[in-house]
Amino acid sequence: MKKILITGGAGFIGSHVVRRFVNQYPDYHIYNLDALTYAGNLENLRDVEDAANYTFVKGDITDAVFLDELFANTDFYGVVHLAAESHVDRSISDPLAFVVTNVIGTVNLLNAARKAWKDDLANRGATNRLFYHVSTDEVYGELHDPNEFFLETTSYDPRSPYSASKASSDHFVRAYHNTYKMPVVISNCSNNYGPNHFPEKLIPLMIHNIMQKKPLPVYGKGENVRDWLYVEDHARAIDTIFHRGKVGETYNIGGHNEWKNLDLVLLLCKIMDDKLGREPGTAESLITYVTDRAGHDLRYAIDATRLKTELGWEPSLQFEEGLEKTVDWYLENQAWLDNVTSGNYKKYYEEMYG
Ligand code: NAD
Ligand code: TYD
Repeated sequence: MKKILITGGAGFIGSHVVRRFVNQYPDYHIYNLDALTYAGNLENLRDVEDAANYTFVKGDITDAVFLDELFANTDFYGVVHLAAESHVDRSISDPLAFVVTNVIGTVNLLNAARKAWKDDLANRGATNRLFYHVSTDEVYGELHDPNEFFLETTSYDPRSPYSASKASSDHFVRAYHNTYKMPVVISNCSNNYGPNHFPEKLIPLMIHNIMQKKPLPVYGKGENVRDWLYVEDHARAIDTIFHRGKVGETYNIGGHNEWKNLDLVLLLCKIMDDKLGREPGTAESLITYVTDRAGHDLRYAIDATRLKTELGWEPSLQFEEGLEKTVDWYLENQAWLDNVTSGNYKKYYEEMYG
């Protein structure tokens, strides 16, 4: 049985990746390593927590001694690294937390893998191992020309503490490939949306506030553009790249689905009024323009041609369809949302894991 370590598996994207790997690959044993920060929620994985090929490990990637022991005790074939601080607004108020987790945590993980895999790394290529680093399109900076897209070759130009920390971690991953022959692969993905998204991010925050009839805070004039991808499509892309990506390479992942924030919120308002049986315009009247985010990147847009032509991956869902699925999930899982917003989601697992 191949042992695969997935970090950050209790978070939004990580939980979808864990579920996919546990269900699709019964011949793998999946170890989910997560520190259960505010963003980690084991309720996301209730449906797989008893699977024979799944183990949860509570641990912190900032703890190098712990990681070295984990790698010494378990012979991991591969790592899929998602654990990170992920919210731009939090990075603006506390940049150092992002350096510690995203930069130092990633280097700790690379070091643990390097020590455990040293004999394989000595054989240049080490094709029997893989370190997959999950990154973001935000490392490329912002776009102004509507005809421009981020390519794998676009120069890095991170502009927020979050994207600077992710860019730095990407550089370390590539440096370990070059210097120590660490077999790595990196993907840079656009904004994800879907079930289990923590309600500090745009789409789940708006869904939550519409349900509660609370103000919908749109930053600035709502003109910033993001490229949205359904989270299960991202998990499928990660699966594809993990199994068929070329070592040492980078793959961009995106939805080819650009939306101005205000247009997205208006669409969400329409869907939610309809689903909640409210008068058209009810949700829209909650829109409130608030002070813009400092250094707010104008537009992100990914060109994912490489992933399509080389590995055959394409997004499977149209945005309206994905958004409806997402809204349905939140309406059917109000207990999940209540537990997250009240903080109750921590209590049960703190008793189990400390
Ligand atoms: P998230 O914030 O929902 O989840 C992060 C997870 O990492 C949580 O479970 C948290 O407990 C865990 N974690 C945080 N610090 C840790 C530490 N020190 N040790 C161990 N675990 C720790 O994040 P997400 O949105 O699911 O993003 C996952 C990854 O994908 C991140 O690396 C992020 O940069 C990247 N990414 C996210 C998006 C997006 O739209 N959300 C897009 C592209 C790339
Ligand atoms: P977010 O979900 O934080 O993702 P990111 O900043 O990583 O793209 O925000 C998506 C967009 O929505 C971004 O342009 C900021 C904007 N936004 C708002 O207008 N209001 C909000 O309350 C939030 C959280 C985000």
